[in-house]
Amino acid sequence: MIHTMISIILGTRPEIIKMSPIIRECQKRNITFNIIHSGQHYSKNMDSVFFEQLELPAPDYNIHVGSGTQAEQTGNALIGIERILLEKRPDIVLVQGDTNTVLAGAIAASKLNIKIGHVEAGLRSYFREMPEEINRVLTDHCSDYLFAPTEKSRNILLKEGISDKNIFVTGNTVVDAVYQNLELSKKKISILKDYNLKKSGYILATVHRKENVDNPVIFRNILNSFLRISNEFNIPVIYPIHPRAKKMMEMLDCNLSGIIFTEPLDYLSFLQLEQNAKIILTDSGGLQEEACIMKVPCVTLRDNTERPETVDVGANILSGTLSESIFKSVEKMMSIKAEWINPFGDGSSSKKILDILNKDQLL
Ligand code: UD1
Ligand code: UDP
Repeated sequence: MIHTMISIILGTRPEIIKMSPIIRECQKRNITFNIIHSGQHYSKNMDSVFFEQLELPAPDYNIHVGSGTQAEQTGNALIGIERILLEKRPDIVLVQGDTNTVLAGAIAASKLNIKIGHVEAGLRSYFREMPEEINRVLTDHCSDYLFAPTEKSRNILLKEGISDKNIFVTGNTVVDAVYQNLELSKKKISILKDYNLKKSGYILATVHRKENVDNPVIFRNILNSFLRISNEFNIPVIYPIHPRAKKMMEMLDCNLSGIIFTEPLDYLSFLQLEQNAKIILTDSGGLQEEACIMKVPCVTLRDNTERPETVDVGANILSGTLSESIFKSVEKMMSIKAEWINPFGDGSSSKKILDILNKDQLL
């Protein structure tokens, strides 16, 4: 066996969760790897709680980029990651998703001629105002291994001129993460009881996208819609609030006493809330996927999505951010039957990814 090394680059909550099955698979196969954390997320409940609960090894490096403008975050991560890659010279780096950390990792590696594997390649919202859309396009175009979750994402990449030989449809590692943790969540967690919620008797909401929460008019409108939905359908709404949204909410002068707010939750508690919700209202990418996997109807508080597979199978609907259309979408999704097939794979995505790298003698 050739002795090679992978650097796994991550920096935010969803990257930790979606990389966790790959990290576990590397451990199982005794593959040499290190974890480079950009430090983009750093609060305990956005970062270390996931390492602890998912029993992941602590990052070997943390660059501590923290919060800042798009350029500050990306630039500082780029400088920090390059330093580590220069010293450690891994054979391949893996990045996952569409954050500023992902772009920084991909640029740093590509300029050093280190191979790049992009996990969750080929997603497009076709909405360039979203910083993540720029990150997706640029990362895909400098990657050597594009691990596309579905045929749809493979076709997007082909249309952009990326060679078929670099694209591998592997499913999404989020399915692995859900399957690996759902049983554990059922055994260990009692969050429904803690908040006095009943199975299928509440709505789970999350909103954190810059486009939604940094605009006070849009954010206020979304929050007021939650109140209206809670009143008219006589159902509680629980909202574990992301720190970006919390910061904005504190500046809005609204009476939100009808919504149950919590701090960001650990993964096992959150999975349990997702699985037992009547419906999920969200602008999160990961939640659109997880809702679809767990057969919970989803309303996405956006005009576009880079996860159209969820809409195609009938698991998700785009409501935009206007009150009336959110209400109508909720009304529709409250009464549908969850009979779709999950389009993101069977939970063996991390195995497939490592098999592909192994076949190319990268492991
Ligand atoms: C980032 C990603 C987004 C992803 C989200 C996952 C980009 C461009 N955005 O958005 O794609 O969906 O992570 O949650 O990379 N904060 C804390 N503690 C933390 C982290 C953030 O308090 O641990 C607060 C800070 O006030 C910060 C704000 O949240 O300014 C936003 O954080 P940032 O990492 O810039 O963007 P996210 O909105 O988290
Ligand atoms: N999540 C969590 N606790 C929470 C909210 C979300 O563990 O309080 C998980 C969720 O299950 C999913 C991921 O975080 O796996 C989604 O992250 P987020 O919505 O922040 O980012 P996005 O997916 O939109 O990039």
